[in-house]
Parts: sequence; structure tokens; C-alpha cells
Amino acid sequence: MSRFELTRAALQRALDGALQYLQGLERTAVAPKVGRSTLRNRFIKPLRRKGASPEKVVTDLIADCDGSIVGSSTGRFFGWAVGGTLPAALAADWLVSAWDQNAVLYACAPAAAQVEEVVGSWLKDLLNLPQRASFALTTGCQMAHVTCLAAARNRLLAKLGWDVERNGLRGAPLIRIFANDQRHGSIERAARLLGLGTEHILAVATDTDGRVLVNVLEQALRAHEPAGSAIVILQAGDFHTGAFDNFRALISIAHRYGAWVHVDGAFGLWAAASPLYRHLTEALNTADSWAVDGHKWLNVPFDCGYAFVADSEAHRNAISHRASYLTHDREARDQIDWNPEWSRRARGFPTYAALRQLGRDGVVDLIERSCLHASALVSRIGSMPGAEILAKPIINQGLVRFVAGRPDASEEDHDRKTEEVIRSVNASGEAFFTASTWHGRRVMRVSVCNWRTTEADIDRAVAAFQKLLT
Ligand SMILES: Cc1ncc(COP(=O)(O)O)c(C=O)c1O
Repeated sequence: MSRFELTRAALQRALDGALQYLQGLERTAVAPKVGRSTLRNRFIKPLRRKGASPEKVVTDLIADCDGSIVGSSTGRFFGWAVGGTLPAALAADWLVSAWDQNAVLYACAPAAAQVEEVVGSWLKDLLNLPQRASFALTTGCQMAHVTCLAAARNRLLAKLGWDVERNGLRGAPLIRIFANDQRHGSIERAARLLGLGTEHILAVATDTDGRVLVNVLEQALRAHEPAGSAIVILQAGDFHTGAFDNFRALISIAHRYGAWVHVDGAFGLWAAASPLYRHLTEALNTADSWAVDGHKWLNVPFDCGYAFVADSEAHRNAISHRASYLTHDREARDQIDWNPEWSRRARGFPTYAALRQLGRDGVVDLIERSCLHASALVSRIGSMPGAEILAKPIINQGLVRFVAGRPDASEEDHDRKTEEVIRSVNASGEAFFTASTWHGRRVMRVSVCNWRTTEADIDRAVAAFQKLLT
């Protein structure tokens, strides 16, 4: 077989397998059916001396994964904050692998660089961020935080007379991070990776839904010395309740004390694209940096996040690199100037394709429909006997809890009941939800991020709870 024929056979098998999977989405159970030991036995094979044909490798892979794929592509997946994949984005993602471009420099992947430039501008427009902001397409929101906070570290320390890129952090003025006490753990990991240290993250008290209390932040910053050595982390979309911070008040206070304001908007920043929800993001564009995901609510394949930085010079100072063997095109945008990785996937193509497929109206529809579905799920499940609503969705996230029927039931009993109901619904294969702990109590998160979710999916998920609870 020629090299082309070998490739064609493997790709054809992958296409058939993928289409078969996608065609069966309505019928398949959302939760995986295969247990860990079966899965392990399927994959633990000796690495043979002689390789197999590409077609056989793909055929075996499909067979070995059978029954173990979490149905996060279905419209009945409501766990964590996991999006699906739009058809154009999925197809573009396959082309990314076929073209196998190294999207580090314009010189090595001109179309990838050009597309990222366009995508950056479209995203800023949709998310109502300043057009002058620099940006990077990262692996996800986690690395978008790292990118943005590297820029913050650069700028704050430069203003305090310290060149962190050259001298590192030893002996540098201390940077403190003031972050919402309900923050996502990716903030902590970013602080660790950047050497800022979790010890120097100060938790700022929040209201019940997770919004930073304005007077508490003001007091904390007033007490902090020297001015200009703080990073304030705000949130567009608390990951339990979807709550948004009061950006207008908080950003202006933070700036008064010379702080850098970074916004975690992993999914919630997309609210800015919708006329119905945009008010939640008012004044958010006056922050200094923003992190948001593509692979959650925009429904592009993993891995895709976006970092935006208002101070492009700080961004570039923190990330850019030059070497004699790299070829730079002065007119073009080289991703190595903005991205923490070196060699990298041309992840701009799926975002470009997703945005072209949806158009502006499609983005708005995706956001608003997800919010409607989340609201319907929470109110319909939460009003069943033995259920209670803890957080009605502000956008696409809400919280429900299940209570044990006994009159003397304790909080632990309700926690157990909540876990049990989630387990049973997931085991039914009809829908998939995940648990979390919120204000000390186990809760069921309701999260809708998938373009495929329809009213029929909501009915099906509700029916699964009805069967259990009534
Ligand atoms: C609010 C929030 N921030 C950050 C992250 C991290 O995003 P990623 O998984 O894309 O790195 C998540 C992920 O679930 C999130 O919900």
C-alpha cells in the first residue's frame, strides 16, 4: 500500500467510527458502561516489535473504547462545565491534524497565524473587550490565567523597579493576589506555576452566590503595602452559581490602589455576547486581563482557551522569545510572542470555523438557549418532591439538592441522598450530572453548555428524575 493509501484507510475508518458514534448519540447512555478493570484489560497490550497497519490500529482503538466514552457530546450531559463540539469546529479540528501545522510562527504556518489574528479580533468584538488588547489562544482557561498573570507579574514588578524576566522572583517585591474565596482552583495553580505562591493569595469574602464584597476588597487593598503590588481576581460566572462580580465598583477600587485586575470568565464571559445577559458584564472591559474558554461554551473541541491582556507590552515582555533560527515576518503576528507554548497546535482553525458556522446570531442563540435550558432543568427538577433549589441559574449554571425523607434526617443524610440521586440518574444513562460541595453541603450542579441540548433532552433528563423521585 502506498503511504497515501495507508493514510486513507485509517482516516476512512476514523470517519466511519466517528459518524457511527455521533449517529448513535440519542440512543447511547450518557455515562460510560464499561468498568475500569475491563478498560484496563482492553488497553494493556504488549508493545509488539512489529507495528500494525494504521487501519487496524484505528479499528482496535474504536473497539477498545466502545462503551467507555463519556457522552459529553450529547445534549443530555450537564456535568461540570463541559461543552460539545459544533460540526464545523469538529471538521476543522480534523484538518488541523491533517495539515499538522506548527502554529508557533507565521513562517511555519501562515494560514494558522492569519486565522488566529482574525479570531482574536472577532472574540474581542463578541465579548466586548478592548480591541487594543493583545491575546493568545491557549490550551484552556488554566493556561490563559498563566499567560495573563505572567503579564500582570511583569507589569507590576516593572513599575516597582524590578525586572522579573531577568532577575526572577528572589528578592523581588512581594506580589499578593486578592481573590474571591469561591475562586476556581486554576487561579491557585497559575499562582504556583508563576512562583507567586498560594500563601500569598488572600481570600476575599463573598456573598452567598460568590460575588466579592466591595467593602471587604476596599479594606483589604487599603491595608496592603506597597500600593501597586496587588493582583485582584474577579469572576465572570461563579462555577457553582454563575454569579458575576460587581465589576464597575470593584475594578475602580482596585485601580485606585494600583492593582492589576484579572477576570476569570471561563464560561461566563460569553454572557457579554448576549443582549439579554450583557448587563452582567458591565464595566468588565475596564479590567487588565481576561481568561475565557472556547472548549466550554463556544463548543469547539478541547483544547482551546483565550487570554486577553489590555497592556500588550507587558504581555509581550512576559512571553516573547527571539532566537537566530526562528524566522520572523515583521508584518505578521507570530504566536510565540503571545503564547506560553513553543510548538503548538493550530487551534485557531476550530474557533474560526465555530464562529463562522454560528455567526453573531448563532452565538447569541447558543448562550441564551443554554440559559433557558438550565433554568428549566433547575426549576423542574427542583420542584419535585424531595428536591430543593439552592441556586436558580443566573446564566447556565444552577444548584439543586435532594433531601432524605426521614423527619430526623441530618445534613449528612441529605448529602448522601444527593449523591445517591445523582448516581442513580447517571446510571440510568438518560442524563449526566455532577456533585459538588457548596457552603458545606453536597449539591447537584446543573450546567448547560452544549449546542445539541434541546427541549426534548431537558424532558428526558427531567423524566429520569421523576422516575426516581415520584
Ligand atoms: C470558572 C473556571 N475557571 C477556570 C477553569 C479552568 O479551565 P480549563 O479547564 O479550560 O483550563 C474552569 C474549568 O472548569 C472554570 O470553571
